[in-house]
Amino acid sequence: MPRTLIAGNWKMNGLIANLAEVERVSAAVSPSSEGPELLLCLPATLIAAASSRSDGSHLKIGGETCHPKEKGAHTGDISAEMLKDAGASYVIVGHSERRADCGETDQIVASQAAAALRAGLTPIICVGETLSQRDAGDVLDVISTQMAGSIPENAAAGAIVVAYEPVWAIGTGRVASSEQIAEVHRLVRDLLVKRFGDAGRGTRILYGGSMNPGNAAEILGVDEVNGGLIGGASLKADDFLAIYRLAAQ
Ligand code: 13P
Repeated sequence: MPRTLIAGNWKMNGLIANLAEVERVSAAVSPSSEGPELLLCLPATLIAAASSRSDGSHLKIGGETCHPKEKGAHTGDISAEMLKDAGASYVIVGHSERRADCGETDQIVASQAAAALRAGLTPIICVGETLSQRDAGDVLDVISTQMAGSIPENAAAGAIVVAYEPVWAIGTGRVASSEQIAEVHRLVRDLLVKRFGDAGRGTRILYGGSMNPGNAAEILGVDEVNGGLIGGASLKADDFLAIYRLAAQ
């Protein structure tokens, strides 16, 4: 069984004052904890400070995207090497908000994930269908295409994480049913095993979309769910820790 990963995604939320929540999370878990891995992916402006404030704790810090290149004339962008330098160990790539807001294609996502691997970060590669794709019965095709296009060629099964985030469940309070989650996670696992052989059984597959302390136990109990990628409920230390504790049971 892959080790469970409970990951937060603060998105474009958080000022220096909110680092108090990061400190509360890192102080609440024992440094030697052997339970689930715990991660907060933060806006780039907070990564260095959050890393130093959680140094030596069980909490890891990640970024929310990265540029494919290591450096150069790309005003406003941040490279995977810069995230690593600031103390990150993970980075989210291909979140549906970036696919929609910034036109990030599967090919771009794959190059971002490759950049993460180059820099020594673990990419969390996001896939997920829109509501109209689900209504059209295209879920499995959409996920298969995203999986084929978004995982870089040089990836090893243990070096990446996949997150299934149905777009219609993000920030809507509308959570996917256990059956819907199980169907897609099974498909993702099959695709990983096809690609990586037996090693594909070790890749973590996270669920994301309106996860909260009230529904986390059920979601985390679904077959092939190896953790969560949590937006809104990761902004408050109490809620995020409640989900972590459910995962640790
Ligand atoms: P919410 O938990 O706010 O629905 O966000 C999920 C998400 O997009 C995590 O990446």
